[in-house]
Amino acid sequence: MTNTARLDWRRCRVVESELVADRVRRITIERPAPLGRAAEPGSHIDVRVSLSAEGSSDVRSYSVVESDAAGHRLTITVLLVAHSRGGSAFMHRLAVGDTIEATRPLQDFPLVPGADRHVLLAGGIGVTALVGMGRALARLGGDYRIVYVGRSRSVMAYADLLASEHGERLATHIDADGTALDVDGLVAGIAAEPGRTELLMCGPVRLMDAVRRAWLHAGLSPTDLRFETFGNSGWFDAESFEVSIPELGITTTVSADQTMLDALTAAGAELMWDCRKGECGLCVMAVSQLSGKLDHRDVFLSDRQKAADDQACTCVTRVVAAGADRGRITLHTR
Ligand code: FES
Repeated sequence: MTNTARLDWRRCRVVESELVADRVRRITIERPAPLGRAAEPGSHIDVRVSLSAEGSSDVRSYSVVESDAAGHRLTITVLLVAHSRGGSAFMHRLAVGDTIEATRPLQDFPLVPGADRHVLLAGGIGVTALVGMGRALARLGGDYRIVYVGRSRSVMAYADLLASEHGERLATHIDADGTALDVDGLVAGIAAEPGRTELLMCGPVRLMDAVRRAWLHAGLSPTDLRFETFGNSGWFDAESFEVSIPELGITTTVSADQTMLDALTAAGAELMWDCRKGECGLCVMAVSQLSGKLDHRDVFLSDRQKAADDQACTCVTRVVAAGADRGRITLHTR
């Protein structure tokens, strides 16, 4: 289970809720009392969302895009996710005056000055983790640039703001405009620069996988590549599959809008987890049988471990049938 001691859950009031791009809502909440300092760049809050269809609640993490100096008002931005269990839909229904339960800002993705330069790479809604970092680097007079990648301009909520704040330090790459990012070119350019460049990225797993591969191929230091991820994007569309843990006598179905971890927990399994985003590795289980293909969706396992398909992060990994009648996976506790 996750460590809850530091979370400091409070009931917070929604003071702004506005659609700022296609399926993208910007929400500002006010904590009952100021924190006494601004939320740090790269921090996030956990929010308790209600999943109305199931009559239950769950927790979602959202990057803090803006904070006032006292840490009293915190702004997040939420993409309405297709095939979600209802968490993003719940957030999109929030109106001014509503209240929600949220934690204090939590920091897993800090900006650490010290590199000769920084590259901030944002994919889609992942930009929310990097807006504050860009401001901090600008304030510090740092050598930095921002690369913002999206499928179409209509969903890139922060394109205009970043352009006004960072001018020529911002490069945008938009698939629909035929200006998709050349990942190998970006990384090769970094490798050719003198000194040490740190790349911080947040976006879909496919983008981050491509960057990580190029980064290692270029011989750059893994410690200079840091990321925050969203565990809901993969190589394949989500589909229903079956999961079993023989030691626990559990076999259950994972629906297309549910994680394997949630399905197993609902079926009575007591499992370890923390981030629920494919980052910490606490939920990893051994795979003994697989019918279909694994869509790993995590950034914890190495490429070699993923290729072996003998372990899986249950919080994000999915199974696709890929020619089999139905995806099936058998896991073991370790
Ligand atoms: S809970 Fe952290 S990787 Fe699954």
